[in-house]
Parts: sequence; C-alpha cells; structure tokens
Amino acid sequence: MIDQATIDRIMDAARVEEVIGDYITLKKRGASYTACCPFHNEKTPSFSVSPARGIFKCFGCGKAGNAVTFVMAHENLTYWDALKVVAKKYGIDVKERDLSPEEIRHNNDRESMMITAAYAQDYFTKILRSHVDGKNIGMAYLAERGFTEATIEKFQLGYCLDSRAAFSNTALRDGYKKEFLVKTGLSVERDSGELADRFFGRVIFPIHSISGRVIGFGGRTLRTDKTAPKYVNSPESEIYHKSSSLYGIFFAKKAIMQRDKCFLVEGYTDVISMHQAGIDNVVASSGTSLTADQIRLIKRFTPNVTVLYDGDAAGIKASLRGIDMLLEEGLSVKTLLLPSGEDPDSFARSHSATEFVDFIGAHEEDFISFKTKILLSDSKSDPIKRAEVITDIVRSISVIPEAIPRSVYIRECSKLMDIGEDVLTGEVAKLRRKKLYADAPNAPKPPEPPDAAASPDALHTPPIPAFVENVFCREQERELIYLLLRHGNQSCFGVRVSAYIISEIAGEDLSFQNLEYRQIFEEYRKLLEASETVDNRHFINHPDQKICELAIDLLSEKYTLSKIWKLPDASEVEEDRLRVEVPKAINVYKSKIVTQAIMRLQQGLEGKTDEALDILLLKLGELSKVRTKLSEMLERPVF
Ligand code: UTP
Ligand code: MN
Repeated sequence: MIDQATIDRIMDAARVEEVIGDYITLKKRGASYTACCPFHNEKTPSFSVSPARGIFKCFGCGKAGNAVTFVMAHENLTYWDALKVVAKKYGIDVKERDLSPEEIRHNNDRESMMITAAYAQDYFTKILRSHVDGKNIGMAYLAERGFTEATIEKFQLGYCLDSRAAFSNTALRDGYKKEFLVKTGLSVERDSGELADRFFGRVIFPIHSISGRVIGFGGRTLRTDKTAPKYVNSPESEIYHKSSSLYGIFFAKKAIMQRDKCFLVEGYTDVISMHQAGIDNVVASSGTSLTADQIRLIKRFTPNVTVLYDGDAAGIKASLRGIDMLLEEGLSVKTLLLPSGEDPDSFARSHSATEFVDFIGAHEEDFISFKTKILLSDSKSDPIKRAEVITDIVRSISVIPEAIPRSVYIRECSKLMDIGEDVLTGEVAKLRRKKLYADAPNAPKPPEPPDAAASPDALHTPPIPAFVENVFCREQERELIYLLLRHGNQSCFGVRVSAYIISEIAGEDLSFQNLEYRQIFEEYRKLLEASETVDNRHFINHPDQKICELAIDLLSEKYTLSKIWKLPDASEVEEDRLRVEVPKAINVYKSKIVTQAIMRLQQGLEGKTDEALDILLLKLGELSKVRTKLSEMLERPVF
C-alpha cells in the first residue's frame, strides 16, 4: 500500500513535461509542448503536454492523462508501479506506508505461505517426473488423458504419493514450518499432532494467482470408485480466496486482452485441454457458481465473455441465474452449447484448433436468446409456465446496466417470445425502478441548497414524475459533468454549483446512463458529502484510465461546450452566467427525458383497452405539465 500522503507528494512533485520528456522529445510551443504521439503512428505532431495543468493529450488518437498514467501506458505498468517509477525520478521514498506489527506479521505469514506453496508445487512436480510411482501412476494418467509434455510443464502439474505423510515429512525435514503447512492446507493436523498429506494419491493441479504465484492446489483422485471425492482443493486461506480466484487467469490474461474475449468453463481439465488445442483465452470458475469478484477479475481484461456448456449438462438451467450476474456487471455474455456428450475438455481433444474455432463461430449465441430458447422449449404450450419464463427473462434484461443493450435484448426477446416490445419495456422498467428503491432505501439525501427558500422559482427545476424511465442522452449528461468539474466549486444562487446540480438531479431517481459520467457523478457526490469543495485532481489522477481521460478532456482548454462561450475572468459576471447556464443545462437534460417519455406514451396509445388508456392519458397529462414548466424556464418550446 502506498499511502495517500505519499501519492499526493508524488503527484505534486511530478512535472508532466519532465516525466514525458524522459521518454520522447518535446518541443516547446507557447505555454505547452508538442511531439509526435507515442501512442499512435503520425507524422505531424498532435500530442500536446500542458505543464500548467499537469496533463497530456493527443488530439489525434484521443489518449490523455497525467505523468503517472503516461508512464503506465508507455511502460505497460500498473498504476502502482508507474507511481513508483515517478517517485524514483524525484527521489521520493515510497515507504509502502508504515505497517503495524500486526500487518507486518500478516504480510510475513502470507509470504511464508506463498513460499511453502511454491515449495510444494516443486515437490509434486519432481515426484511426478522422477519418482517411480509418480511416473507409473501420475504421469501415466496424465499421458492417457492426452496432456502433452509441454502442457504438463506449463501448468506445473504434479503428483502426490499415495502415502499418509510423505510430502509433509519431507517438507518438515527441509525446514518448512508446520504452521504454514497447515495454514496452506497442504497438510492436515491430526489429533495426535502428526501431519497428514491432504492430497495423497492425487494428481496435482496448482492454482496460480494473477501474477503467476502458486496460491492453492486441486488434487484429482485416480480412483474410479465414487467413495472419494473426485477433487480435493486447498481450503480458504490467507493466500487462497476461492471466490476471487479463477483457475487459469495467469496463463490466459494476455490472450484475453489481445482477443478481447474470455471463455469461461467449469474445470481444471477444460482449461488445460483448450490451451493445448490453441485456445488460450480461457478460465474456469472451478465448479462453483460465479462470484462478483471473479466477474470483476475478468472485467479487468475484457467485457466479452462466452460461457461454454457441456452438451448434456443437466445443470444448465441451474446455472442460468449465475449468468445474470455477468450481465449485471455490464459484461456482454454469449453462450456456446457443445454437442451432446461433450465437455470442453473432450471436445478440445477430439477436434483440431481450427475445428474448435469454427464451431465457436457457428454456434455461439447471445445469452438472453439462449436462455429464452432453453426455457421456452420447456414450457411449450403451458401458459403459466410461459408467463414464468417471460418474468424470468425480463429479470435478466432488467439487470443490464446500459440502456442500449437492454433495448436490443427487448427487441430480440419480443420476437422470440412473440410478445409486444412495449409490454417488455414496461416490465423491465418496473423491475429497474423496484431495484433502485431496494438498493437505496436510506441512501443519503442530496444536500439541500441552503437558500432554497430565497428565490425558489428561479432555483428549482421541475421534478420528473417517478414513472419515467431514463433515456440515453450523452450530450446532456456530458454538459452536466462538465459544469460539475469545471464550475462545481463556484457559486450561483448563493450555493455551490456542485451542490445545486446534485440536489436537482440526484433527487430524482434518474441516474446517468453513460457509465463513466455516472461514476464521476456518484464519486463527486460522495466527495461532496465529506467536504464542501471537490478537488478535480481526484478525477485527473483517477486510477481508472477512462475516468482520467474524460476528466482531462472536459477540463482541457480545447474542449468547449456546444453552447457555452468562453467565460470571462470577472467572477461576478461569471456567477451571473452560471445562474443562467446551470439551471439551463439541468432543464435541457430533463426536457430530453420528458420528451422521450411523452413520445413513448403516445406510441403506446393505440389499441389499448379503456382502462389502460386512462392510465396512459393520466401519465401524459402529468408529463405535459412538466413539459410546460420546462419550456417556461427555458423560454422556448420543448419537444
Ligand atoms: P468436473 O466434474 O467437470 O471435473 O468438475 P473436470 O474438471 O471435468 O475433471 P475431469 O475431466 O473429470 O478429470 C468441474 C470442476 O469442479 C470442481 C473442480 O474445480 C473441477 O475442475 N470440483 C469437481 C471439485 O472441486 N470437487 C469435485 O469433487 C468435483
Ligand atoms: Mn471433464
């Protein structure tokens, strides 16, 4: 951990032109520097560095950032490692925060456990290769399964002798402590205090962390009888957290990034066989249902996941629910159903890499259609079951965070299930609304503008009725974020612009549809709860590159709002303008939402029963009142 004070010190010391100047030649031009962009191919320089703002931006490829994110991108480092590079340049000591004795012990324990695990891996591999039983039993089994020498070596497979404590005793003799043998779960302590091997008589599959260190093991039995579990795995420990690990991630991460796609399978052998067949962007959930942490791990490398299903998986239906979580995290999910009787392991072994890739190309389908078909094929003509299916699918669609893919799925399912798009849209909206309330029953109220009473009419933009669903309006969201970042700390109507915008927008339960804008908005709101003003460096130096680029984009001089003029320096004039422009931006945003809602309602009027019509008309009436109010405030018609 680098503590915040040190990070601040590094950021303060870092002169962007000096750091970047270490990598490329910068030419001074006025107050800034230019160069040919190191991130894309160009002949005329469109890469610009602004010392005053501490940022760089390429007007050709759009890449932007600060000194640290430059080093990150240029050297392909993590944020923390890039920080250290910059710290070193300025002679800043990065004491990874003074650790408490408790933390030191904890770290030492972890390290000792890692070392013990690495030792065990090496031991099991040696046994597999040189012990007579390792060769005759372990190696024979792996060879029979079709694993090649190269594969066995790459995945560091091993064998644990079929004797009570052969491994534990050797480890103790080699000076490894009982404490760590037990903590890693490699050994089990008996009542007598003696150690026994957890994995005896099993083929060993080491589990690697994302950076390639061994953190745990899976051991497969070689017996065919059903009395022993097929796999025994390392227990939870300080180094192995099953719920946040994915088997194979270390070997797959590069390929996942390059192919921008991740295959998800169930088991150790599926991962290994697919690798061997040349498909290396694959990880396994290890037989349990996916967790949010595992999904986030994948998301660090790609938003595209394809889940592979065995051809005869009885468990498909049970596993569908888990896939909803992938959708919820905003991933784009596809499925691949293998031919009957095959699993990824057997399929990879019986087909060439090209055949496998061709099969994927031909049979991959998007998750929602897959699920719809599976469930519908079950319900046939039973109307009650059909209704359940619809509810189920609607639930899946409703968890997708982005509006556009949601509407694409709605269209798709409306066809598959032969049911009106508007009905589905309505149901999805209902569920989303419900969830919003469920998620935030006591969410902190946005700050009230202190002088709200002083000039309430000029101040308050009209509220949006609760039945309205938000729409995608990137432009308007961008303007609001622009005002927040650029003018949030200034005031208008005697309140801070930030507090004003947040109370006007967050009060409605409309959250921004663009994920980055939403994140900035939410983080801004949190920061504002803690202090009265917000330092934009939080966003400029944001560890998430996307946020950082966006903030810089909005804050860099070149970006001017469509309708906003260059602000003069005189702060009084500026406040006058903000008094006009800020409510205007909010009202324009709300107009967009209201207009769309009205349009949708009007489209739905046709062919409705009287009762449904009444409700629609009521809603329309309410909305047109809001629209009138908005157009009064904007002094122009709203449509
Ligand atoms: P599978 O039963 O599909 O095993 O379980 P597999 O990986 O295909 O192994 P082979 O091909 O039969 O040798 C899938 C995953 O579920 C976990 C393991 O991670 C396994 O890879 N599992 C399964 C266990 O942890 N314990 C078990 O007893 C069974
Ligand atoms: Mn298998």
